[in-house]
Amino acid sequence: MASTVVSKQAKGRGNWNKSLSILKEFQSVCSTPAESLWSLVDEMIAEMEAGLAKEGGGKMRMLLTFVDNLPNGNETGIFYALDLGGTNFRVLRVQLGGKEGGVMRKESREAAIPPELMQGTNRELFDYIAKELADFACTSDENFCPRGTRLQLGFTFSFPIHQTSIKSGNLINWTKGFAVPDTVGKDVVKELEAAITRQGLEMRVSALVNDTVGTLARGHFVDEDVMISVILGTGTNACYVEDAGAIPKWHGRSRFMVINTEWGSSWSDNLPRADVDEALDAESINPGDQFFEKMVSGMYLGDILRRVLLKMATEAQLFGDEVPSKLLSPLSLTTPKMCAMHHDETSDLHEVGRILSESIGVDDTSLEVRQLVVEVCEAVAMRAARLAGAGIVGILKKIGRDGSTSGENGSVRSGAPRTVVAVDGGLYEKYPRFQEHLQKVVVEMLGEETAQQVSIELSQDGSGVGAALIAACCPSAPSV
Ligand code: GLC
Repeated sequence: MASTVVSKQAKGRGNWNKSLSILKEFQSVCSTPAESLWSLVDEMIAEMEAGLAKEGGGKMRMLLTFVDNLPNGNETGIFYALDLGGTNFRVLRVQLGGKEGGVMRKESREAAIPPELMQGTNRELFDYIAKELADFACTSDENFCPRGTRLQLGFTFSFPIHQTSIKSGNLINWTKGFAVPDTVGKDVVKELEAAITRQGLEMRVSALVNDTVGTLARGHFVDEDVMISVILGTGTNACYVEDAGAIPKWHGRSRFMVINTEWGSSWSDNLPRADVDEALDAESINPGDQFFEKMVSGMYLGDILRRVLLKMATEAQLFGDEVPSKLLSPLSLTTPKMCAMHHDETSDLHEVGRILSESIGVDDTSLEVRQLVVEVCEAVAMRAARLAGAGIVGILKKIGRDGSTSGENGSVRSGAPRTVVAVDGGLYEKYPRFQEHLQKVVVEMLGEETAQQVSIELSQDGSGVGAALIAACCPSAPSV
């Protein structure tokens, strides 16, 4: 990608040409031409197949979810849902009214997970969650949830789980900043139910789902063409509907099963990673893990930007002789701040200046320096969105929906099925440039005609309502 707005003559601070060369080098490492994305897609499919063949067989986890039935709109009843997957968690109560009523009523409460609990003990974490759930359940009004009803809970737990049935599964490892060592290897449903009992509440978990799976279910409830779902938020992941015949490691009788790919993992050595990505990984709480996530998701994009600016500040004195001390702090530039700077449309990039001043304490930046910052935002966001888009194309190809099964003369087969990709997550929802790049790369890779059959749609609240829907839609796959 060419540096369009930053001219060589521009006056910044320090060694301006050196800053420009750091930018160029970063842009060049981050570049993702369609042909390299197609090689990644081929590699991804090979890893998916290896992961489907046997547990731990590939670098892509391809976890069985035991969801072999998806909601079709006929579901009815009252369900609770608990959604744990990031720094916040939510409890919900949902009333489903079938085809006529849809989601008739929904109440929810959100709470932050105190940072010390994200790295504390298993018991503290589950007791905290169960207490919030119990407090919420006690606010139930009689009409909504008459006393004496056996309360059913859909549990969205958005971390890699080795599932043994629709309502049991052991944590493989934490991601996204959580590190509670004594939960690893344990059945999180048992842990939650024990904590619920300690609260004196009568509630049982009917379904344990990943947020991708909840999003797929939520999407499918309203549109049966939803075959894939993607989370682009604090973390990133995707799941999809796979034919049972293509899952050698699954010996059950179902026609299909939803597979949680855990695509955020380190499934390729060929991702376009820069030195700042290596440093981010080395300093993270899970080094060596989740390379894809660390280049794509909201938890990390702002920090990649910060690291590039830190490099410019250190090696080219971009912000003056002293490196601004706030720039050394991993939390100084978050992805929402990066997004605000990236979308600054004022002629003097006023907002960029304001955020640089507020977040890293640099007051009088020149317009050229602010333009340079925007260029870095663009490189970081574009790489992330194109990688996520390629991931979607990879899944489409895996299930034969990428247009490669063409009709005569290479045309798209008439009647090729429509495929809907349900996407949830703040990064996708609140970062328009990211969304544009993602949509664009899918068209670029698939071609206009095939891309017309693929609809990428924002589908919100899947990780909450989706779990309730799965709890409602007859969990049937037997345990292993
Ligand atoms: C992380 C988790 C994964 C989850 C994703 C999105 O990648 O490992 O399970 O789906 O974040 O929340």
